[in-house]
Amino acid sequence: MARLIVVSNRVAVPSRDGSNQAGGLAVAVRSLLKRHGGLWFGWSGTVSADDEVSTRTIQQGGMSYIVTDLTASDYQEYYSGFANRVLWPILHYRLDLAEFSRRDLSGYRRVNVLFANQITEWLRPDDIVWVHDYHLIPLAKMLRDRGHQNRIGFFLHVPFPPPEILTALPNHEWLIPQLSAYDLVGFQTANDATNCARYFESECRLPKRAALTYQVGERNVRIGVFPIGIETNEFNRLARRSVRSALVRNLVDSLAGRAMVIGVDRLDYSKGLAQRLDAFERFLAGYPDWRGKVTYVQITPKSRSEIQEYAEMERTISEAAGRINGTYGEIAWTPIRYVNRAYNRSVLAGLYRSARAALVTPLRDGMNLVAKEYVAAQDPDDPGMLILSRFAGAAAELTAALLVNPYDPETVAVSISHALSMPLEERRSRHKAMMQVISDNDLKSWGDRFLASLTKEADLPLWHEHLGLRPLENSSIA
Ligand code: G6P
Repeated sequence: MARLIVVSNRVAVPSRDGSNQAGGLAVAVRSLLKRHGGLWFGWSGTVSADDEVSTRTIQQGGMSYIVTDLTASDYQEYYSGFANRVLWPILHYRLDLAEFSRRDLSGYRRVNVLFANQITEWLRPDDIVWVHDYHLIPLAKMLRDRGHQNRIGFFLHVPFPPPEILTALPNHEWLIPQLSAYDLVGFQTANDATNCARYFESECRLPKRAALTYQVGERNVRIGVFPIGIETNEFNRLARRSVRSALVRNLVDSLAGRAMVIGVDRLDYSKGLAQRLDAFERFLAGYPDWRGKVTYVQITPKSRSEIQEYAEMERTISEAAGRINGTYGEIAWTPIRYVNRAYNRSVLAGLYRSARAALVTPLRDGMNLVAKEYVAAQDPDDPGMLILSRFAGAAAELTAALLVNPYDPETVAVSISHALSMPLEERRSRHKAMMQVISDNDLKSWGDRFLASLTKEADLPLWHEHLGLRPLENSSIA
């Protein structure tokens, strides 16, 4: 059987004692690799002190990993620079935050070359290669340039904006067309896929061979919609167990019978935290009866703090939370509990199950798995309600959530009140509809569908139709 080679910037190597908990993608990749055999390649997470980088092979839990260090300048230019200061904001529709430099672009190119050279050393002709995310867009082209004819797929975890935005990226004409060196390019939503098809048509003028299929020289590149899922049943089991754990019980006891609203996000401007706090403040102002009866717990691990926008956000968000608490809090009630610590999946599962509502209100998000995990964690007999941004990829599937526009804090405030006072029957029926979607399209079926599409030449079924997703808007895709 062909080996599966997964390539991503971050590689989740489990610790020897199994103490570190794997996130959704790590769980999916490991289970795919276990079944197919193969290995996971990427950055070790270590920045080497000098220019000597080491590459290590690790065998752990029946799995193989090959990880490589980055030099300090690789880390600065490839990861912090081009990937996170240019591609991340632009892919999240934030042209105003992009800070382009040619040096960062050349660092990005250099690390992709480093990855391609290393992979070349051990890649076999029948290996199937699956590349993940925006850090590694040019990798397939670099592998093709080194003579590899393998099936190579790419999945973008973040949004893909329309050409009108993407063409503002300096050197987009070098970078984006390289997606066409893959055999299959997968996106989270039909809108992302449409945007890519529009780019291929308008900017690359690729001849269209069939729906979602374009000709590139002798080969074809196909575009597909693969909304990522979670391990729905396992997460529900985890939540049922974890709700009885000491940490979760302590938190619930400390609320003294108050309703909990929960938010869990990496500290990132795409998550809409400032707007969310504004909405919660308007809720407290507009619905005074709820004062003292509800506590909003916002768990926000710090991320990418070396980047200026992130460091500034750390200050502004904690100041806003402090100001709202100062204005509305009482000595026996703090409206917002804002913490920058990270909690493991098990604790989060228990917290989700204990929360009457979740605020998942990114300004733009590829999918947002917190939304799916919150739904999976609920007690179907008495479920909490999800308040979900229409700009999260998850909104295409979770249409039974309370969908909101995060730029309109007034209506988000109304939705918080709506969620907290929603009759049991309505909560149950909305939860049932959402549970159906995330059970039908769980993590395993996501991975299996992507790989089946990558390995087969056959035309891709239109997955958005198969999954009952919203039809493509303004699409040139047949
Ligand atoms: C998003 C990206 C991932 C990335 C993660 C954490 O989910 O799609 O590729 O790994 O954020 O960001 P970080 O920069 O810490 O890897």
